[in-house]
Amino acid sequence: MTHGAAVLGMADVRKSFPSPAGRVEVLRGVDLEIRRGEFVMVTGPSGSGKTTLLNLAALLDFPTSGRLTFQGRELAGLAEDSLCDLRKRAIGVVFQRFCLLPRRTALENVLFRFRYVGGAEAETRRAALAALDTVGLAALADRPVRVLSAGEMQRVAIARAVALRPELLVADEPTGNLDAASTAAVMDCFRRLNVEGLTVLLVTHNEGLLRYATRHLVCVEGTLNP
Ligand SMILES: Nc1ncnc2c1ncn2[C@@H]1O[C@H](COP(=O)(O)OP(=O)(O)OP(=O)(O)O)[C@@H](O)[C@H]1O
Ligand SMILES: [Mg+2]
Repeated sequence: MTHGAAVLGMADVRKSFPSPAGRVEVLRGVDLEIRRGEFVMVTGPSGSGKTTLLNLAALLDFPTSGRLTFQGRELAGLAEDSLCDLRKRAIGVVFQRFCLLPRRTALENVLFRFRYVGGAEAETRRAALAALDTVGLAALADRPVRVLSAGEMQRVAIARAVALRPELLVADEPTGNLDAASTAAVMDCFRRLNVEGLTVLLVTHNEGLLRYATRHLVCVEGTLNP
């Protein structure tokens, strides 16, 4: 399968954190290039640096050293407002624990994605409903999230992540709290979005999901290996 333009690039990316015992080296020289349309899955032992890597990919944190590029542009050269714009529009994030507002409806949760980008109310509502439709939940738009099943909650979170039609969808163990049936439903959402052109970077501990990926990488002690 051929893929399109560069979405995310990392060259000798390192990340360390301060600790009382000195700096902890978490990422130790990561080289990665993800192209448009790829579905990259990362597995690896607990503590190997997967979440740290995703935080960099989502532009939520900065490398200690090395080059990080998004859509061919080097992160270090971006002004703060361009960076915010990328975070808001170009990247969607899905977490293991959903991170939804339980008392709000599915639609309201998706509408939160539009909070900082503006737009006419009717238009954002239409886009939010369309996002819920892509995950098969249009009929549940007005239900409070707390009454939904865990799998439905995660699909609401996916709808929220893709509502602004990002370039890259980053997901950290998105099926970690789900049973087998809900896992399949959630993975089908990722697959459908990927087939429509969305680039996906997903971390999982579930080797059974690797068949959804177009590429599999293993994170071991802060390095990424094929
Ligand atoms: N902000 C931080 N400050 C200090 N240490 C950190 C910080 N973030 C992560 N670490 C350490 O970095 C290492 C890797 O953490 P990370 O969360 O990336 O692992 P992971 O591969 O996602 O693990 P898991 O599979 O359990 O989610 C861990 O030892 C963790 O304690
Ligand atoms: Mg993690």
